[in-house]
Amino acid sequence: MSETLTPAAKRDIAAHLHPYTNLARHEEVGPLVLTHGKGIYVYDEQGREYIEGLAGLWCTSLGFGEDALVQAALEQMQRLPYYHTFAHKSHPMAIALAERLKALAPAPMSKVFFTNSGSEANDTVIKMVWYHNNALGRPEKKKIISRRRGYHGVTIASASLTGLPINHNDFDLPIARILHTDCPHHYRFAEPGESEEDFATRLAASLERLIVAEGPETVAAFIAEPVMGAGGVIVPPRTYFPKIQAVLRKHDVLLIADEVICGFGRTGNYWGCETYDLQPDILVCSKAITSGYLPLAAILVSEAVYAGVREGSRRQGTFGHGFTQSGNPTCTAVGLRTLELMEERRIVEHVREVAPRFQEGLRAFAEHPLVGEARGVGLLGGLELVADRASKQPFDPAQRVGMYCAERAQAHGLIVRPMVDTIGFCPPLIIDAAQIDELFARFGQALDETQAWVRQG
Ligand SMILES: Cc1ncc(COP(=O)(O)O)c(C=O)c1O
Repeated sequence: MSETLTPAAKRDIAAHLHPYTNLARHEEVGPLVLTHGKGIYVYDEQGREYIEGLAGLWCTSLGFGEDALVQAALEQMQRLPYYHTFAHKSHPMAIALAERLKALAPAPMSKVFFTNSGSEANDTVIKMVWYHNNALGRPEKKKIISRRRGYHGVTIASASLTGLPINHNDFDLPIARILHTDCPHHYRFAEPGESEEDFATRLAASLERLIVAEGPETVAAFIAEPVMGAGGVIVPPRTYFPKIQAVLRKHDVLLIADEVICGFGRTGNYWGCETYDLQPDILVCSKAITSGYLPLAAILVSEAVYAGVREGSRRQGTFGHGFTQSGNPTCTAVGLRTLELMEERRIVEHVREVAPRFQEGLRAFAEHPLVGEARGVGLLGGLELVADRASKQPFDPAQRVGMYCAERAQAHGLIVRPMVDTIGFCPPLIIDAAQIDELFARFGQALDETQAWVRQG
Protein backbone atom coordinates (compact mmCIF):
# COMPACT_ATOMS: atom_id res chain seq x y z
CA MET A 1 0.00 0.00 0.00
CA SER A 2 1.31 3.45 -0.91
CA GLU A 3 2.74 5.60 1.93
CA THR A 4 0.88 8.67 0.67
CA LEU A 5 -2.66 7.35 1.05
CA THR A 6 -4.98 9.62 3.02
CA PRO A 7 -7.08 8.18 5.88
CA ALA A 8 -10.19 8.29 3.66
CA ALA A 9 -8.34 6.41 0.90
CA LYS A 10 -7.29 3.73 3.39
CA ARG A 11 -10.87 3.36 4.61
CA ASP A 12 -12.04 3.08 1.02
CA ILE A 13 -9.56 0.27 0.34
CA ALA A 14 -10.71 -1.55 3.46
CA ALA A 15 -14.46 -1.32 2.82
CA HIS A 16 -15.42 -0.41 -0.73
CA LEU A 17 -15.57 -2.75 -3.73
CA HIS A 18 -15.30 -0.56 -6.85
CA PRO A 19 -16.92 -0.96 -10.27
CA TYR A 20 -14.68 -0.95 -13.36
CA THR A 21 -11.47 -1.00 -11.35
CA ASN A 22 -8.47 -3.32 -11.17
CA LEU A 23 -9.19 -4.33 -7.59
CA ALA A 24 -5.71 -5.67 -6.86
CA ARG A 25 -4.12 -2.43 -8.09
CA HIS A 26 -6.66 -0.41 -6.13
CA GLU A 27 -5.32 -1.89 -2.92
CA GLU A 28 -1.94 -0.39 -3.84
CA VAL A 29 -2.87 3.00 -5.26
CA GLY A 30 -6.21 3.73 -3.55
CA PRO A 31 -8.85 6.15 -4.83
CA LEU A 32 -8.83 9.84 -5.65
CA VAL A 33 -11.38 11.07 -3.10
CA LEU A 34 -13.47 13.92 -4.52
CA THR A 35 -15.40 16.03 -2.07
CA HIS A 36 -17.15 18.81 -3.99
CA GLY A 37 -17.65 20.41 -7.37
CA LYS A 38 -18.66 23.65 -9.03
CA GLY A 39 -19.31 24.23 -12.71
CA ILE A 40 -16.89 22.16 -14.79
CA TYR A 41 -14.56 21.64 -11.80
CA VAL A 42 -14.34 19.03 -9.05
CA TYR A 43 -12.09 19.18 -5.97
CA ASP A 44 -10.35 16.44 -4.02
CA GLU A 45 -10.13 16.13 -0.26
CA GLN A 46 -6.91 18.16 -0.30
CA GLY A 47 -8.58 20.99 -2.20
CA ARG A 48 -6.89 20.29 -5.55
CA GLU A 49 -8.94 21.39 -8.58
CA TYR A 50 -9.67 19.22 -11.62
CA ILE A 51 -11.52 20.00 -14.82
CA GLU A 52 -14.03 17.16 -15.19
CA GLY A 53 -13.19 16.38 -18.80
CA LEU A 54 -15.67 13.51 -18.96
CA ALA A 55 -18.54 15.12 -17.03
CA GLY A 56 -18.14 12.32 -14.46
CA LEU A 57 -19.16 9.38 -16.60
CA TRP A 58 -20.62 11.38 -19.52
CA CYS A 59 -23.25 12.76 -17.12
CA THR A 60 -23.05 16.23 -15.58
CA SER A 61 -24.10 18.27 -18.58
CA LEU A 62 -25.15 21.30 -16.51
CA GLY A 63 -22.03 21.12 -14.34
CA PHE A 64 -21.57 20.59 -10.63
CA GLY A 65 -23.21 22.63 -7.87
CA GLU A 66 -26.30 23.58 -9.88
CA ASP A 67 -28.62 24.91 -7.22
CA ALA A 68 -31.75 24.84 -9.39
CA LEU A 69 -31.49 21.04 -9.52
CA VAL A 70 -30.89 20.83 -5.79
CA GLN A 71 -34.00 22.95 -5.19
CA ALA A 72 -36.09 20.78 -7.52
CA ALA A 73 -35.03 17.69 -5.56
CA LEU A 74 -35.62 19.36 -2.21
CA GLU A 75 -39.09 20.58 -3.08
CA GLN A 76 -40.13 17.21 -4.45
CA MET A 77 -38.71 15.36 -1.44
CA GLN A 78 -40.70 17.62 0.84
CA ARG A 79 -43.88 17.10 -1.18
CA LEU A 80 -43.74 13.40 -2.14
CA PRO A 81 -40.27 11.84 -1.89
CA TYR A 82 -41.27 8.41 -3.07
CA TYR A 83 -44.07 6.79 -4.88
CA HIS A 84 -44.24 3.95 -7.33
CA THR A 85 -45.92 3.72 -10.69
CA PHE A 86 -47.18 0.11 -10.57
CA ALA A 87 -50.82 -0.91 -10.81
CA HIS A 88 -52.40 2.33 -12.06
CA LYS A 89 -50.53 4.73 -9.74
CA SER A 90 -48.85 7.87 -10.98
CA HIS A 91 -47.66 11.30 -9.89
CA PRO A 92 -47.31 14.70 -11.58
CA MET A 93 -43.54 14.55 -12.17
CA ALA A 94 -43.55 11.24 -14.05
CA ILE A 95 -46.49 12.44 -16.13
CA ALA A 96 -44.84 15.77 -16.98
CA LEU A 97 -41.46 14.25 -17.80
CA ALA A 98 -43.02 11.57 -20.01
CA GLU A 99 -44.95 14.26 -21.87
CA ARG A 100 -41.86 16.39 -22.30
CA LEU A 101 -39.71 13.51 -23.59
CA LYS A 102 -42.41 12.56 -26.08
CA ALA A 103 -42.55 16.14 -27.33
CA LEU A 104 -38.76 16.29 -27.71
CA ALA A 105 -38.33 12.89 -29.36
CA PRO A 106 -36.59 12.72 -32.75
CA ALA A 107 -39.28 10.38 -34.15
CA PRO A 108 -42.96 9.90 -33.22
CA MET A 109 -43.16 8.11 -29.88
CA SER A 110 -46.17 6.87 -27.99
CA LYS A 111 -45.14 6.11 -24.39
CA VAL A 112 -42.26 6.52 -21.94
CA PHE A 113 -41.10 3.87 -19.43
CA PHE A 114 -38.71 4.86 -16.62
CA THR A 115 -35.85 2.87 -15.09
CA ASN A 116 -32.90 3.78 -12.85
CA SER A 117 -30.01 3.11 -15.22
CA GLY A 118 -29.07 2.63 -18.83
CA SER A 119 -28.40 -1.06 -18.26
CA GLU A 120 -31.85 -1.64 -16.78
CA ALA A 121 -33.34 0.32 -19.64
CA ASN A 122 -31.64 -1.81 -22.29
CA ASP A 123 -32.63 -5.02 -20.49
CA THR A 124 -36.18 -3.71 -20.39
CA VAL A 125 -36.07 -2.94 -24.11
CA ILE A 126 -35.08 -6.53 -24.92
CA LYS A 127 -37.96 -7.81 -22.83
CA MET A 128 -40.38 -5.37 -24.48
CA VAL A 129 -39.25 -6.44 -27.96
CA TRP A 130 -39.68 -10.12 -27.08
CA TYR A 131 -43.07 -9.50 -25.47
CA HIS A 132 -44.17 -7.42 -28.46
CA ASN A 133 -43.25 -10.16 -30.93
CA ASN A 134 -44.95 -12.83 -28.84
CA ALA A 135 -48.09 -10.69 -28.81
CA LEU A 136 -47.87 -10.36 -32.61
CA GLY A 137 -47.65 -14.16 -32.92
CA ARG A 138 -44.01 -14.12 -34.03
CA PRO A 139 -42.36 -16.20 -31.28
CA GLU A 140 -39.31 -16.89 -33.47
CA LYS A 141 -38.49 -13.21 -34.06
CA LYS A 142 -36.28 -12.62 -31.01
CA LYS A 143 -32.64 -12.09 -31.97
CA ILE A 144 -31.12 -8.69 -31.28
CA ILE A 145 -28.16 -7.43 -33.29
CA SER A 146 -25.67 -5.14 -31.62
CA ARG A 147 -22.23 -4.00 -32.79
CA ARG A 148 -18.70 -4.86 -31.81
CA ARG A 149 -17.42 -2.10 -29.52
CA GLY A 150 -20.94 -0.89 -28.81
CA TYR A 151 -21.67 -0.21 -25.13
CA HIS A 152 -25.12 -0.82 -23.72
CA GLY A 153 -24.52 -1.65 -20.07
CA VAL A 154 -23.49 -4.43 -17.72
CA THR A 155 -26.55 -6.36 -16.54
CA ILE A 156 -26.70 -9.86 -18.02
CA ALA A 157 -28.67 -8.97 -21.13
CA SER A 158 -27.31 -5.45 -21.63
CA ALA A 159 -23.72 -6.68 -21.14
CA SER A 160 -24.49 -9.23 -23.84
CA LEU A 161 -25.45 -6.36 -26.15
CA THR A 162 -22.23 -4.60 -25.26
CA GLY A 163 -19.60 -5.60 -27.81
CA LEU A 164 -16.47 -5.42 -25.68
CA PRO A 165 -14.50 -8.49 -24.53
CA ILE A 166 -13.97 -7.06 -21.05
CA ASN A 167 -17.74 -7.25 -20.45
CA HIS A 168 -18.01 -10.86 -21.65
CA ASN A 169 -14.80 -12.60 -20.56
CA ASP A 170 -15.20 -14.69 -17.40
CA PHE A 171 -18.82 -13.53 -17.09
CA ASP A 172 -19.95 -16.33 -19.43
CA LEU A 173 -21.57 -13.84 -21.79
CA PRO A 174 -23.11 -13.09 -24.24
CA ILE A 175 -26.40 -14.91 -23.72
CA ALA A 176 -28.13 -16.65 -26.61
CA ARG A 177 -29.98 -14.68 -29.29
CA ILE A 178 -27.66 -11.66 -29.10
CA LEU A 179 -25.53 -11.21 -32.23
CA HIS A 180 -22.80 -8.70 -33.07
CA THR A 181 -22.04 -7.01 -36.36
CA ASP A 182 -19.31 -4.64 -37.53
CA CYS A 183 -18.07 -1.55 -35.77
CA PRO A 184 -18.33 1.54 -38.03
CA HIS A 185 -14.83 2.80 -37.31
CA HIS A 186 -13.34 3.82 -40.63
CA TYR A 187 -9.84 4.54 -39.26
CA ARG A 188 -9.51 1.02 -37.81
CA PHE A 189 -11.64 -1.19 -40.01
CA ALA A 190 -11.72 0.30 -43.52
CA GLU A 191 -9.84 -1.61 -46.18
CA PRO A 192 -6.84 0.16 -47.75
CA GLY A 193 -8.08 3.03 -49.91
CA GLU A 194 -11.74 2.44 -49.02
CA SER A 195 -13.77 5.67 -48.84
CA GLU A 196 -16.12 6.34 -45.91
CA GLU A 197 -19.02 5.92 -48.30
CA ASP A 198 -17.81 2.53 -49.55
CA PHE A 199 -17.05 1.45 -45.99
CA ALA A 200 -20.61 2.33 -44.94
CA THR A 201 -22.01 0.43 -47.94
CA ARG A 202 -19.91 -2.61 -47.07
CA LEU A 203 -21.07 -2.58 -43.43
CA ALA A 204 -24.73 -2.33 -44.46
CA ALA A 205 -24.22 -5.29 -46.82
CA SER A 206 -22.53 -7.24 -44.03
CA LEU A 207 -25.48 -6.54 -41.72
CA GLU A 208 -27.88 -7.72 -44.41
CA ARG A 209 -25.87 -10.92 -44.90
CA LEU A 210 -26.08 -11.59 -41.16
CA ILE A 211 -29.85 -11.01 -41.07
CA VAL A 212 -30.42 -13.23 -44.12
CA ALA A 213 -28.12 -15.98 -42.78
CA GLU A 214 -29.94 -16.00 -39.43
CA GLY A 215 -33.33 -15.72 -41.14
CA PRO A 216 -35.14 -12.34 -41.01
CA GLU A 217 -38.05 -14.08 -39.30
CA THR A 218 -35.73 -14.64 -36.30
CA VAL A 219 -34.23 -11.13 -36.08
CA ALA A 220 -36.21 -8.67 -33.97
CA ALA A 221 -34.10 -5.57 -33.49
CA PHE A 222 -30.82 -3.75 -34.05
CA ILE A 223 -29.38 -1.51 -31.30
CA ALA A 224 -26.87 1.27 -31.79
CA GLU A 225 -25.43 4.35 -30.16
CA PRO A 226 -25.43 7.23 -32.68
CA VAL A 227 -21.80 7.81 -31.66
CA MET A 228 -20.19 4.93 -29.77
CA GLY A 229 -19.01 6.24 -26.41
CA ALA A 230 -17.31 3.76 -24.11
CA GLY A 231 -16.10 1.72 -27.11
CA GLY A 232 -13.75 4.62 -27.89
CA VAL A 233 -15.80 7.62 -29.11
CA ILE A 234 -16.41 6.21 -32.58
CA VAL A 235 -18.06 8.59 -35.01
CA PRO A 236 -19.83 6.79 -37.87
CA PRO A 237 -19.49 7.75 -41.54
CA ARG A 238 -22.22 10.25 -42.50
CA THR A 239 -24.21 7.82 -44.65
CA TYR A 240 -23.78 4.79 -42.40
CA PHE A 241 -27.11 4.98 -40.54
CA PRO A 242 -29.30 5.71 -43.60
CA LYS A 243 -27.79 2.63 -45.29
CA ILE A 244 -28.23 0.51 -42.15
CA GLN A 245 -31.82 1.64 -41.72
CA ALA A 246 -32.70 0.70 -45.28
CA VAL A 247 -31.60 -2.87 -44.48
CA LEU A 248 -33.55 -2.91 -41.20
CA ARG A 249 -36.74 -1.70 -42.87
CA LYS A 250 -36.41 -4.24 -45.66
CA HIS A 251 -36.29 -7.08 -43.15
CA ASP A 252 -38.78 -5.69 -40.62
CA VAL A 253 -36.16 -5.26 -37.89
CA LEU A 254 -36.76 -2.61 -35.21
CA LEU A 255 -34.18 0.13 -34.62
CA ILE A 256 -33.26 0.88 -31.00
CA ALA A 257 -31.26 4.08 -30.52
CA ASP A 258 -29.15 4.07 -27.38
CA GLU A 259 -28.91 7.79 -26.64
CA VAL A 260 -27.54 7.29 -23.12
CA ILE A 261 -24.45 9.40 -23.96
CA CYS A 262 -25.53 11.27 -27.11
CA GLY A 263 -28.90 12.50 -25.85
CA PHE A 264 -29.58 16.02 -24.54
CA GLY A 265 -27.31 18.12 -26.70
CA ARG A 266 -24.00 16.27 -26.62
CA THR A 267 -23.50 16.05 -30.39
CA GLY A 268 -24.75 19.59 -31.13
CA ASN A 269 -28.39 18.56 -31.64
CA TYR A 270 -30.84 17.56 -28.98
CA TRP A 271 -30.38 13.89 -30.01
CA GLY A 272 -27.60 11.98 -31.70
CA CYS A 273 -30.41 10.60 -33.88
CA GLU A 274 -30.77 14.07 -35.40
CA THR A 275 -27.05 14.44 -36.00
CA TYR A 276 -26.79 11.04 -37.71
CA ASP A 277 -30.21 10.70 -39.28
CA LEU A 278 -31.77 7.84 -37.30
CA GLN A 279 -35.54 7.33 -37.00
CA PRO A 280 -35.73 4.86 -34.12
CA ASP A 281 -38.66 2.69 -33.06
CA ILE A 282 -37.32 2.73 -29.51
CA LEU A 283 -35.06 5.31 -27.87
CA VAL A 284 -33.16 4.88 -24.60
CA CYS A 285 -31.76 7.86 -22.68
CA SER A 286 -30.23 8.43 -19.25
CA LYS A 287 -27.20 10.22 -17.70
CA ALA A 288 -27.71 13.88 -18.80
CA ILE A 289 -31.47 13.48 -18.32
CA THR A 290 -30.82 14.57 -14.71
CA SER A 291 -27.38 16.01 -15.43
CA GLY A 292 -26.25 12.92 -13.50
CA TYR A 293 -27.64 14.32 -10.22
CA LEU A 294 -29.97 11.36 -9.62
CA PRO A 295 -30.29 7.92 -11.22
CA LEU A 296 -32.84 7.89 -14.02
CA ALA A 297 -33.26 6.43 -17.50
CA ALA A 298 -36.16 6.55 -19.92
CA ILE A 299 -37.32 4.34 -22.77
CA LEU A 300 -39.45 5.91 -25.48
CA VAL A 301 -41.43 3.47 -27.63
CA SER A 302 -43.33 3.95 -30.87
CA GLU A 303 -47.07 3.33 -31.11
CA ALA A 304 -46.46 0.01 -32.91
CA VAL A 305 -44.13 -1.29 -30.18
CA TYR A 306 -46.44 -0.02 -27.47
CA ALA A 307 -49.41 -1.75 -29.12
CA GLY A 308 -47.61 -5.12 -28.93
CA VAL A 309 -46.67 -4.61 -25.29
CA ARG A 310 -50.22 -3.50 -24.44
CA GLU A 311 -51.61 -6.60 -26.15
CA GLY A 312 -49.18 -8.82 -24.23
CA SER A 313 -50.22 -7.24 -20.94
CA ARG A 314 -53.86 -7.81 -21.80
CA ARG A 315 -53.13 -11.48 -22.48
CA GLN A 316 -51.07 -11.95 -19.32
CA GLY A 317 -53.24 -9.78 -17.10
CA THR A 318 -50.38 -7.34 -16.40
CA PHE A 319 -47.12 -6.17 -17.99
CA GLY A 320 -45.05 -8.20 -15.54
CA HIS A 321 -42.05 -5.91 -15.49
CA GLY A 322 -41.05 -2.77 -13.58
CA PHE A 323 -38.75 -1.47 -10.88
CA THR A 324 -39.56 -0.28 -7.36
CA GLN A 325 -38.07 3.06 -8.41
CA SER A 326 -39.48 3.25 -11.96
CA GLY A 327 -40.29 6.94 -12.26
CA ASN A 328 -39.25 7.93 -8.73
CA PRO A 329 -40.78 11.38 -8.05
CA THR A 330 -37.54 13.05 -6.96
CA CYS A 331 -35.55 11.66 -9.90
CA THR A 332 -38.22 12.65 -12.41
CA ALA A 333 -38.55 16.12 -10.80
CA VAL A 334 -34.81 16.65 -11.27
CA GLY A 335 -35.07 15.28 -14.80
CA LEU A 336 -37.85 17.70 -15.62
CA ARG A 337 -35.94 20.63 -14.14
CA THR A 338 -32.82 19.61 -16.10
CA LEU A 339 -34.77 19.70 -19.37
CA GLU A 340 -36.29 23.07 -18.43
CA LEU A 341 -32.85 24.50 -17.67
CA MET A 342 -31.54 23.18 -20.99
CA GLU A 343 -34.21 25.23 -22.72
CA GLU A 344 -33.98 28.34 -20.49
CA ARG A 345 -30.21 28.47 -20.86
CA ARG A 346 -30.19 27.51 -24.52
CA ILE A 347 -27.72 24.71 -23.85
CA VAL A 348 -27.94 23.12 -27.30
CA GLU A 349 -27.28 26.52 -28.92
CA HIS A 350 -24.33 26.98 -26.56
CA VAL A 351 -22.94 23.57 -27.58
CA ARG A 352 -23.17 24.61 -31.23
CA GLU A 353 -21.30 27.83 -30.43
CA VAL A 354 -18.39 26.28 -28.56
CA ALA A 355 -18.15 22.91 -30.36
CA PRO A 356 -15.96 24.27 -33.19
CA ARG A 357 -13.46 25.50 -30.60
CA PHE A 358 -13.56 22.13 -28.85
CA GLN A 359 -13.13 20.16 -32.07
CA GLU A 360 -10.26 22.44 -33.19
CA GLY A 361 -8.58 22.00 -29.80
CA LEU A 362 -8.92 18.24 -30.12
CA ARG A 363 -7.70 18.14 -33.72
CA ALA A 364 -4.69 20.29 -32.83
CA PHE A 365 -3.28 17.03 -31.42
CA ALA A 366 -3.86 15.13 -34.68
CA GLU A 367 -0.22 15.52 -35.76
CA HIS A 368 1.23 14.67 -32.36
CA PRO A 369 3.63 11.69 -32.67
CA LEU A 370 1.50 9.63 -30.29
CA VAL A 371 -1.90 10.33 -31.88
CA GLY A 372 -3.30 8.06 -34.60
CA GLU A 373 -6.70 9.69 -34.91
CA ALA A 374 -8.47 12.72 -33.43
CA ARG A 375 -12.23 12.35 -33.80
CA GLY A 376 -15.43 13.74 -32.37
CA VAL A 377 -18.60 15.72 -32.82
CA GLY A 378 -20.21 18.44 -30.71
CA LEU A 379 -18.68 18.31 -27.23
CA LEU A 380 -17.61 14.70 -27.56
CA GLY A 381 -14.11 13.71 -28.57
CA GLY A 382 -11.57 10.91 -28.67
CA LEU A 383 -7.82 10.79 -29.28
CA GLU A 384 -6.53 7.36 -30.24
CA LEU A 385 -2.93 6.86 -29.17
CA VAL A 386 -0.83 4.54 -31.34
CA ALA A 387 2.69 3.10 -31.28
CA ASP A 388 3.19 3.89 -34.97
CA ARG A 389 1.22 6.48 -36.89
CA ALA A 390 2.09 5.22 -40.37
CA SER A 391 0.97 1.63 -39.79
CA LYS A 392 -1.69 2.54 -37.15
CA GLN A 393 0.00 -0.07 -34.95
CA PRO A 394 -1.64 0.05 -31.50
CA PHE A 395 0.37 -0.07 -28.30
CA ASP A 396 0.71 -3.37 -26.50
CA PRO A 397 -2.23 -3.22 -24.02
CA ALA A 398 0.12 -4.39 -21.26
CA GLN A 399 1.96 -1.03 -21.58
CA ARG A 400 -1.21 0.74 -20.40
CA VAL A 401 -0.29 3.88 -22.32
CA GLY A 402 -3.81 5.32 -22.23
CA MET A 403 -3.96 4.81 -18.47
CA TYR A 404 -0.58 6.49 -18.02
CA CYS A 405 -1.73 9.47 -20.09
CA ALA A 406 -4.92 9.80 -18.03
CA GLU A 407 -2.87 9.66 -14.82
CA ARG A 408 -0.57 12.43 -16.10
CA ALA A 409 -3.66 14.47 -17.02
CA GLN A 410 -4.95 14.00 -13.48
CA ALA A 411 -1.62 15.23 -12.14
CA HIS A 412 -2.16 18.38 -14.22
CA GLY A 413 -5.72 18.92 -12.97
CA LEU A 414 -7.76 17.23 -15.68
CA ILE A 415 -9.89 14.12 -15.42
CA VAL A 416 -10.31 12.19 -18.69
CA ARG A 417 -11.12 8.55 -19.42
CA PRO A 418 -8.85 6.10 -21.19
CA MET A 419 -10.72 3.47 -23.19
CA VAL A 420 -7.78 1.18 -23.82
CA ASP A 421 -5.64 3.74 -25.72
CA THR A 422 -8.35 6.17 -26.76
CA ILE A 423 -8.63 9.14 -24.44
CA GLY A 424 -12.25 10.28 -24.17
CA PHE A 425 -13.36 13.88 -23.72
CA CYS A 426 -16.93 14.78 -22.82
CA PRO A 427 -16.93 17.91 -20.64
CA PRO A 428 -20.03 19.44 -19.04
CA LEU A 429 -22.03 21.16 -21.78
CA ILE A 430 -21.75 24.49 -19.95
CA ILE A 431 -18.00 24.68 -20.63
CA ASP A 432 -16.93 28.01 -22.18
CA ALA A 433 -14.25 28.80 -24.76
CA ALA A 434 -11.54 29.76 -22.25
CA GLN A 435 -12.20 26.61 -20.25
CA ILE A 436 -11.94 24.50 -23.42
CA ASP A 437 -8.52 26.04 -24.06
CA GLU A 438 -7.50 25.33 -20.47
CA LEU A 439 -8.69 21.73 -20.75
CA PHE A 440 -6.52 21.10 -23.81
CA ALA A 441 -3.55 23.00 -22.36
CA ARG A 442 -3.60 20.66 -19.36
CA PHE A 443 -4.01 17.68 -21.64
CA GLY A 444 -1.10 18.77 -23.88
CA GLN A 445 1.27 18.59 -20.93
CA ALA A 446 0.06 15.09 -20.11
CA LEU A 447 0.44 13.93 -23.72
CA ASP A 448 4.00 15.28 -23.99
CA GLU A 449 4.93 13.56 -20.74
CA THR A 450 3.38 10.34 -22.03
CA GLN A 451 5.47 10.61 -25.19
CA ALA A 452 8.65 11.08 -23.12
CA TRP A 453 7.72 8.07 -21.00
CA VAL A 454 7.03 5.91 -24.08
CA ARG A 455 10.39 6.97 -25.56
CA GLN A 456 12.15 5.87 -22.40
CA GLY A 457 10.56 2.50 -22.91
C1 LIG B 1 -24.52 4.16 -24.50
C2 LIG B 1 -24.71 3.57 -23.14
N1 LIG B 1 -25.72 2.74 -22.92
C3 LIG B 1 -25.94 2.19 -21.71
C4 LIG B 1 -25.11 2.47 -20.66
C5 LIG B 1 -25.34 1.82 -19.34
O1 LIG B 1 -25.80 2.75 -18.44
P1 LIG B 1 -25.66 2.50 -16.85
O2 LIG B 1 -24.20 2.56 -16.53
O3 LIG B 1 -26.46 3.62 -16.28
O4 LIG B 1 -26.26 1.18 -16.57
C6 LIG B 1 -24.04 3.36 -20.83
C7 LIG B 1 -23.13 3.69 -19.72
O5 LIG B 1 -22.10 4.29 -19.89
C8 LIG B 1 -23.83 3.91 -22.11
O6 LIG B 1 -22.79 4.73 -22.33
